[in-house]
Amino acid sequence: MSQILQAIRGMNDILPPESERWERFEETVRDWLFSYGYRPIRMPLVEPTPLFARAIGAVTDIVEKEMYSFTDALNGEALTLRPEGTASCVRAVLQHNLLYDGPKRLWYMGPMFRHERPQKGRYRQFHQVGVEALGLPGPDIDAEQILMCARLWDDLGLEGIRLEINSLGELEERTRHRADLIAYLEKHIEELDEDGRRRLHTNPLRILDTKNPALQEIVEAAPKLIDYLGKASLEHFEGVQQLLEDAGVPYRVNPRLVRGLDYYNLTVFEWVTDRLGAQGTVCAGGRYDGLIAQLGGKPAPACGFALGIERLMALLEAQGELPEAPAVDVYVVHQGEAAQRLAFRAAEALRDIGCAVITHMGGGSFKSQMKRADASGAQLAVIIGEDEAQKNEASLKPLRVEREQWRVAVDGLADAVNDWLFGADEAINEE
Ligand code: HAM
Repeated sequence: MSQILQAIRGMNDILPPESERWERFEETVRDWLFSYGYRPIRMPLVEPTPLFARAIGAVTDIVEKEMYSFTDALNGEALTLRPEGTASCVRAVLQHNLLYDGPKRLWYMGPMFRHERPQKGRYRQFHQVGVEALGLPGPDIDAEQILMCARLWDDLGLEGIRLEINSLGELEERTRHRADLIAYLEKHIEELDEDGRRRLHTNPLRILDTKNPALQEIVEAAPKLIDYLGKASLEHFEGVQQLLEDAGVPYRVNPRLVRGLDYYNLTVFEWVTDRLGAQGTVCAGGRYDGLIAQLGGKPAPACGFALGIERLMALLEAQGELPEAPAVDVYVVHQGEAAQRLAFRAAEALRDIGCAVITHMGGGSFKSQMKRADASGAQLAVIIGEDEAQKNEASLKPLRVEREQWRVAVDGLADAVNDWLFGADEAINEE
């Protein structure tokens, strides 16, 4: 026998019941996005490679070493599996001129691809919910996006996710800070690690983000970007903080929060938990006012964030808040040819009234069919044996509570099932 092929490392199958929990999660997320006026957009998974180099920055981990890039064998075009969604979203907005009649609030959900070293919470194919507000300049939308996240954690029953924010200022402010930072780091060049030395002249801000404990002291004493911010940048940052305080959302200003993508300016933020080990950032984003112009559009401000679905699901699991996987309502058990035909009719009649129904297939004794019925999670088994078939009847057997089975005419089956499944609820509600 030939060997069973395996999925690519770091790219996971999501199987039931996990896949069903994902769907529940996605339903919550859709309602949440709708409640803030965001509308869905769907972009291709593959984009021209230059889009990401231009948007994310040529000297970032993502573009330098994590992209799944390949040449289209038919026309030689350089293509990349999207490592994130913001670049594609902005590309789509510009291509279709979506900002012609004012700001847009958009969201997307789906797989992203990064060639990282797989570990718990870090995958090569992972899933994000991305949220982008385009055309809005004020600190109010930054703050609202952060509040949105707080509300989602609440909707999901999540606790212990802390908020870190920072301001990256404007380009000119970063340029002055950068010159001073390089001068400072050059004085410590002997102590820097390989990554640090490589980034010294290309992306020194990222050195501040190092996880290397040996560099913490140097990084701690380095010139701080916040000290280089001008009046407008400071006001914007204060505006965000004021609205967060008004809403009672606690936060910490982390001057070393720099993000791994180059398109950000002004507000950046991350939601972090300690309960997932090293991969604790469950959601991250910020303002990217320069990106639209950088990708060829008429300059317009924008901000957004993305949450990592795998990480949020892991956190839900750790906190015992996993959404429940749904079960079908009814499992139809039958034996004999006439019974099978009646079972088909009965199942369709139940689906007509909105029930989820599995019709048993593949034969077997009543006992083994009832085992399947039980394992399906259904509330009720509808049993059609030869005797029932002859009389055009069906037996009902509750599967989750003790109760003798009873018979009804097939014509009255839908009503009887409806009463049992939903009438009971009403009775409880009335109590
Ligand atoms: P990001 O920080 O690269 O930002 O990713 C956002 C989130 O995606 C992370 O906080 C994390 O939860 C999740 N994530 C990232 N990489 C992985 C991975 N390898 N495995 C599992 N989860 C991962 C962005 O992608 C920006 N596009 C966010 C944004 C939208 N900024 C503005 N708009």
